[in-house]
Amino acid sequence: MSHAEDQSGDRRDFLYYATAGVGAVTVGAAVWPLVNQMNPSADVQAASQMRVDVSGVSEGTQLTVLFLGKPVFIRRRTADEIEAARAVDLADLVDRDARNPNIGPIEAADENRSMPDYSGENTGEWLVQIGVCTHLGCVPIGDGAGDFGGWFCPCHGSHYDSSGRIRRGPAPENLPIPMASFVDDTTILLG
Ligand code: FES
Repeated sequence: MSHAEDQSGDRRDFLYYATAGVGAVTVGAAVWPLVNQMNPSADVQAASQMRVDVSGVSEGTQLTVLFLGKPVFIRRRTADEIEAARAVDLADLVDRDARNPNIGPIEAADENRSMPDYSGENTGEWLVQIGVCTHLGCVPIGDGAGDFGGWFCPCHGSHYDSSGRIRRGPAPENLPIPMASFVDDTTILLG
């Protein structure tokens, strides 16, 4: 098991990831001329992907990992969080785009932002987002923070709901979803 696969979500592990991420970037830069010359596309692809073991992420908690230099929030939502996210009238949204490259431009219904499990069922339990405020790039606070029960960016007061959609404040867009999918029951592949 690689370092990137071995994690459980506490702060020490976040720092561990940060270290691993920096290492990956350094290695990637160092080997690029050789990679470019040999054109081994599989190597390039591996450098831009990360497998995350989410077996230790319990309901109502969030695992933060560093991926390609940015924090990624992996939240296992509660039934209340899912219900609140899915009850929102889309006409009330600031940004109507789901910002989910896994399924392309599509309306920002919660069902279009949460991630299906390995069986393909999208119960809403898993929400994976890039944890960078779309205003000026601060990292929002999670665990139900803000006035909409999701994330709050204290830099200039942007409130995101439990689907990571911007609801109030200067941020113009919903928190972006990265390319991500389950590759087995407990492993998410980023990238
Ligand atoms: S950077 Fe988040 S509100 Fe300005």
